[in-house]
Amino acid sequence: MSRAIGALAGLSAFVALASAAWLAPRATPRADEAGWTLAEPVLLPEERTQGNARWREVSCAQCHEEIAREWGATLHALAWEDEVFQDELASIRRKKSCHGCHAPLPLVGTDLAQRPEERPMWRHFGVDCRACHLDAEGRVHGPWGAPSPGHTSVQDDAYAGAGSNALCISCHRVSIGPVLGIAQDFVDEQLGARGLSCVGCHMAPVERSMAVDDRTGEPLPARAGRSHALQTPRDPSFLAQAFALATERTATGALLRVTNRAGHRVPGIEDRRLVFEVTALDAAGKALATGELVVSRREYLAWGESRELALEAKGVTDLRVRATHDAPAYARPVVFLERELELAE
Ligand code: HEC
Ligand code: HEC
Ligand code: HEC
Ligand code: HEC
Ligand code: HEC
Repeated sequence: MSRAIGALAGLSAFVALASAAWLAPRATPRADEAGWTLAEPVLLPEERTQGNARWREVSCAQCHEEIAREWGATLHALAWEDEVFQDELASIRRKKSCHGCHAPLPLVGTDLAQRPEERPMWRHFGVDCRACHLDAEGRVHGPWGAPSPGHTSVQDDAYAGAGSNALCISCHRVSIGPVLGIAQDFVDEQLGARGLSCVGCHMAPVERSMAVDDRTGEPLPARAGRSHALQTPRDPSFLAQAFALATERTATGALLRVTNRAGHRVPGIEDRRLVFEVTALDAAGKALATGELVVSRREYLAWGESRELALEAKGVTDLRVRATHDAPAYARPVVFLERELELAE
């Protein structure tokens, strides 16, 4: 606990000053090398689109405004205030067991095999910048160790590519409440050793200025880093990328094969449900047969797993696929994928 208090004391040097004067142009994300298109998430109106309204109050936003804006729109920034979390929390008797991951003290330098300790203050910032970057001495850990008037920076390989897996895994490995510890799949399948990383799929690569010079207000020269706007299944176009779809002709009709491309099982929350509605069509576009393939907590798709749906009909030329997603935040399922796939000859 004394370490934790030290980390908080080290923070008093930062004054919460949101600089409205300078607004960075939005960085242009690129597709990464492994075939994933990682772009600024576009959330559905059904989703928690507002983000954390107080993101500018995070002291780091004074010099890292664009990063703070990105973080502010994620569930990390909402991890405490999120209604879905608060509703669930209300029904829990030992509430303290829920606090550590949803409003943590800094994790850097702590034993990542243990659950994070709860933060006694500023809980409304959820999983904040400090949780991931600050050590007990109040130093900021990052990929470069670049000099900064805001803090002492420490170069740390835990902020370069696969180096950060351990940080993400520490909170995402545990199954608790409605949460399935999907990062355990990543560990069990040794995906780190296969060159995969959490940030590789969830934080888009960007090249841009990472901070402003707080004396002149000028952006510092661009560097290559990653967006803090997490790639999320709340964005239909990212969710759709979780699945590779393939078709095949069979003796009696056709089949659709759905393969999980994510770095872990799908889904990771108990009450999420993905339904693939498949229609077999003939050359004139007439529906010949329909079927449904469900991915849910019970019928989950493990890492790399495929599932098939066979439809029986004569003269099938195409399969039409429409997939919907239902989650605790939604009033009704939403469509995340619509595609027509031609059968190979
Ligand atoms: C969930 C953990 C997490 C949170 C929360 C988080 N970061 Fe990061 N941050 C990372 C990781 C991991 C990297 C390294 C990404 C990479 O591989 O380049 C990083 C990189 C950075 C960098 C270096 C530039 C870059 O893009 O690589 C800066 C600056 C930074 N973060 C600032 C912030 C600020 C400011 C906040 C709060 C608004 C914040 N971070 C919140 C995990 C986090
Ligand atoms: C070990 C860390 C950890 C602890 C402790 C923890 N959570 Fe979570 N919680 C998470 C993570 C990580 C997620 C995000 C899971 C995901 O999206 O795959 C999450 C997400 C949630 C969500 C889902 C919100 C949504 O968007 O649908 C709810 C609800 C929730 N937690 C409730 C609880 C409750 C209740 C407790 C205490 C019994 C608790 N959590 C304790 C890590 C934790
Ligand atoms: C007074 C301005 C200022 C404040 C406040 C500030 N930073 Fe920085 N930060 C910088 C500058 C400048 C750099 C260097 C950027 C560069 O060289 O591209 C930097 C770099 C970083 C890096 C990269 C470190 C590395 O490895 O080089 C991280 C991570 C980071 N800041 C996180 C934070 C966090 C978290 C906070 C809030 C607790 C914060 N910063 C507050 C100005 C600031
Ligand atoms: C301190 C614990 C903690 C750490 C460390 C952490 N997460 Fe999370 N993460 C959470 C919690 C809690 C939630 C869900 C909050 C909720 O739904 O209320 C979450 C949500 C997410 C989501 C869903 C985001 C959204 O906006 O829909 C993604 C993706 C994610 N985390 C990836 C990562 C990655 C990648 C890392 C490592 C860079 C990481 N997390 C590190 C606790 C953590
Ligand atoms: C190969 C790409 C890939 C890798 C590697 C990967 N993910 Fe994911 N992740 C995805 C995709 C795609 C989804 C959307 C599918 C879904 O909704 O479950 C997703 C979903 C999630 C979610 C939301 C799950 C839910 O049900 O709410 C969290 C949280 C998450 N990932 C965290 C992580 C963490 C932590 C790691 C590293 C241990 C990681 N991911 C590694 C691609 C990846």
